[in-house]
Parts: sequence; C-alpha cells; structure tokens
Amino acid sequence: MIKRPIIIDTDPGIDDAVALAIALYSEELDVRLITTVAGNVDVDKVTYNALRLLKFFEKEVPVAIGANQPLIKEPIDASNVHGSTGMDGYDFDEPDYHLVVKENAVNAMYKEIINSEEPITLVPIGPLTNIALLLKLYPEIKDNIKEIVLMGGSTARGNAGVLAEFNIFADPEAAKIVFKSNLPIVMAGLDVGLQALVYPEDSEKLKTMNHTGNMIYHLFQKYRGGSMKTGLKMYDSCAIAYLLKPEMFEVADTFIDVELTGSLTTGATVVDLKGYLKQPNNAKVCTSLDPVMFKEWFLSSLQKCN
Ligand code: BDR
Ligand code: CA
Repeated sequence: MIKRPIIIDTDPGIDDAVALAIALYSEELDVRLITTVAGNVDVDKVTYNALRLLKFFEKEVPVAIGANQPLIKEPIDASNVHGSTGMDGYDFDEPDYHLVVKENAVNAMYKEIINSEEPITLVPIGPLTNIALLLKLYPEIKDNIKEIVLMGGSTARGNAGVLAEFNIFADPEAAKIVFKSNLPIVMAGLDVGLQALVYPEDSEKLKTMNHTGNMIYHLFQKYRGGSMKTGLKMYDSCAIAYLLKPEMFEVADTFIDVELTGSLTTGATVVDLKGYLKQPNNAKVCTSLDPVMFKEWFLSSLQKCN
C-alpha cells in the first residue's frame, strides 16, 4: 500500500500526543516531518514534548522547530488544560535532540514539500502560525500541497472565547491567511472535537492495552479537556480520523473566514453554511461525527501501537 505523505504541525499537548501516536503507527500514513509551534505551551516545551514522544515510540521522524509567537497578537497558552509542561502526567525518558533538523519549521516544510514526488497533506493541530508563514514565504509550494486537514475553529460556540476555538484564537491572523490560501482545506473543529469523547471505561482499556495505551492513560489523569464524567475531548485525533476514516464524518462545502476585528468575537471562524455572504466555497467543514464509529476507530488505532 502506498502510504499518504503528511506533515504534522503540532503543539503537544495531551490530545496532540494521542493524535501523534495514532498517526505514527498507522500503516496508511507516512509522517515525513513533525513541526512544532507555540500553542498549548511555548515552543521549547512543545518541541521537548514531541521529542519525548518520539523517543517513547522509538520513531525516527525529523522535527523542525517553528514559531514561538503568533504573527501579531500576544501569545496565550493552554497550560490550564495540559499542565505546565504541556504534557503532564507521565514520567518520560529524557530525549536527545538528534531528530531536530537545522532548518526552522517553515524552511523544513518547504524542503520536504518541494522535494516530494507526491503532493503532501498538511495536518496542523495547533495554531496556524507556521503554516501561514510557509504559504506567504513560499507560495509556489501550493502546487505540491494536496490539502490541509486542520483541527481548529467551530461553526458554533468556542472554547477559548464565546465563539472562538483555541487554535484559531491563539493566532487569528495566521488562520485567516490559511483560509484565504485557495488550497483545499478540511476543518475538523469543535463541532466534531466535542463528539470525540473518551470515558473512564475506555481509559481503563488503554491502561492495560499496550505501552502506549498505558502512557496515554496516565496523561489522561492530568488532562482537563473535558472530564472523565462528561468525556475527555480528543480534538486533535479528529484531523487524523478524517484522513483515515472520513466516513465517520458529516461534511459540508462552505465558505469560512476568521473574525479579526470583532469587539467580542475575535478569533471566531465564520462558517457560512447558509451562503449569506455570497462567497465561493473555500473549505470543507466537518459538522458532526459518529461517536460510536469514532470510539471503535480510536481504540483499534491505539491497539496498533507498541
Ligand atoms: C485545541 O486546543 C488545544 O488545547 C488542543 O491541543 C487542540 O489542538 C482544541 O481547541
Ligand atoms: Ca493541539
């Protein structure tokens, strides 16, 4: 089987860690590069976390360090959700930094994309700073990008503002650049993230499933994206799920833009499902997922890990 080449742009992040596990052990995905971006915590911490995970998984994927701050606004973080390290809850071995390439995230993505025989799919699961810089600095690489499947945004309410989801709210200008790029975009936002839930009985299964499941079980004890009672939200796994099992999603073609100047709504994704704005469609949005299918996919995907 030809594996689909992807680049994951990430800010691990407990739910990022789970998404990375699934992607790295999938037989259908070829993770060519991992790029890091400040989001859940600063870029040094998220890079360290990505390296801790790769060492744990014994996977040799190059890592390129990206932006430590948004394009314009002041940095925010989500340490209230993921802990002060960004990935609290498990005692990982110390990684060395041999997987870190000398290029920054933008230049490393450029090199990977331009040299790839097959078009690359970008999978951003953090703020979109690196991706926006890439598209502005090297617009010529758009021809060799297959699509962007991102976790972020919402058709309804937010989790970082009344109407703003964290990854978009963290760098709204970057998100606007990405949605205006004319590339094929799939937005897997809160609409599906809030339906991708893990409960205590699933977490118990993970505990004894394998080495990775046990590590994730421990991270879950510190994760504040939801609760054990109402379900832990596997936001970032939704982007990977879309790549591997799109049939679990309901998807609509639509126009999406990002609110930058709303006095109360900055960082909101304006998803024009009814066509009020009379703009051409520029994205697909995942409007819902089948929770039963998700659960089955989630557990069977993690079963493939070491
Ligand atoms: C997003 O915000 C981050 O805290 C998560 O890792 C996810 O990417 C959910 O809004
Ligand atoms: Ca994330």
